[in-house]
This record gives sequence, structure tokens and C-alpha cells, in this order.
Amino acid sequence: MKLFVYHTPELTPKDQVPDCAIAVDVLRATSTIATVLSAGGEAVQVFSDLDELIAVSETWPPQKRLRAGERGGGKVVGFDLGNSPLDCTPELVEGRRLFISTTNGTRALKRVQDSATVLTAAFINRATVVQYLLEKQPEIVWIVGSGWEGSYSLEDTACAGAIAHSVVEKSQLPPEELAGNDEVISAIALYSQWQNNLLGLFHHASHGKRLLRLECHEDLKYCSQTDVLTVLPIQKEPGVFKS
Ligand code: MLT
Repeated sequence: MKLFVYHTPELTPKDQVPDCAIAVDVLRATSTIATVLSAGGEAVQVFSDLDELIAVSETWPPQKRLRAGERGGGKVVGFDLGNSPLDCTPELVEGRRLFISTTNGTRALKRVQDSATVLTAAFINRATVVQYLLEKQPEIVWIVGSGWEGSYSLEDTACAGAIAHSVVEKSQLPPEELAGNDEVISAIALYSQWQNNLLGLFHHASHGKRLLRLECHEDLKYCSQTDVLTVLPIQKEPGVFKS
């Protein structure tokens, strides 16, 4: 297995796909996806375009669907939900499909959609993703951060580092053997520095600060937990994730 970390979808190589792609948007799309599937949601279907989301979700019975739309951290007017994982309670999501579009996370998922396997990861389900990698041993693995509108984001790269760090620890292979690019080593270093204070790291992150201005402090706390959900969101058809 060779791991590659890409900080943003724009930095991934063009005209190639890996055996396994792991999309990461800790704040908050992939934390929300893990939460919905863990709470009994039927599936999560992702869209980069809001109009397409509306059109496709119209074909579902209203009682079986939820529409989540986020732009700039806020809820899109007319949608059932924004992108707070804390809104995704079992009472609300059980048996329903979440149709979701977010500023960056769903774009990252689109970028890697054609990979043989596509997973989503956040700190909250990191251990389950690592277990999958150790069991299946895909040859080429990309961990792709969502960033913010093309720029690097601290929290996504730290989560990529958390995955790589755990693979190194559990496989007992040296990092240089697993690392396919330099970004893997720097992501591990970032995670190692902050692993006991991820909430503190989020307070330094530009999107963390944006969410704090939007009074989403509880979301930051929730997303800073590590290995608390045993859910593996995996793409079953293009854009549709189930556990
Ligand atoms: C995104 O896709 O940019 C994020 O998930 C934004 C957010 O809702 O915090």
C-alpha cells in the first residue's frame, strides 16, 4: 500500500484515479455524512449543484428524504438542514436519504468519484477507515482534503495525518515505506503536534474561525472527537454513500 495526501481536490493529479480515495472534510461535510449513516440514514447522496440536488430529490417520497444545503458555512434558504452534524439525530434521519450539497466537501467527493473505491473520513470515524485499509490493502490510496475554495485547510490535512499515523502504527511499517508523497510525512507531523488538542487546532483554522463566528462552537467540539463512530461511508453508486 502507498498513501498519498493531497491538501485540496485541485492538487490531485489529473487523468488518474487511485484504487481507493478517501475524501476528508472534517468541518463539516464528512463528519455529517458519518453521523447520518451512523444514526440510521438510508444513504447520503452528494451534489455540487443545488438545482441538481432539488431535481433528483424531487423523485423521492417527501417522507423518505431530507435536503441539506450549505454555502459559506450557513444553511441555504429553503433546505431542511444546513451542514451541522448535530442536527442529524436518529429521530430525524432514520430510514431517510440525505441529499446534500456543501461549499467544498461535495466538490472533493466529485473529484474522486471515479476511483475504484471511495470512502469518506473524519476524525470521528478515523479508526474504521484505517481498519478498512489494513484489511483490504488497496495498492494506491489517495487521502484528499476538501480545503476551502481551493486553499489548504489545517483540519483536513491533520485528519489525513491521523489516518496515515494510525496506518503506520498498526502496520508497523516505517512511514517512508508507506508514504507516496512528502505531504504524508508533513500531515503526520501536523497531527502528531495537535493530536491531544484538536479543538485547539480548529480554533487556529480559518474555517474553524468562520464557524465560530456563526456560533457553531458545539459543532467544532463534536468534530474534534477521535474514533467515536464505527461507521464506514462507502460509495455504492456515483455520489451515493452507504455504510
Ligand atoms: C464545506 O463543504 O465547505 C464544509 O462542509 C462547510 C461547512 O458546512 O462547514
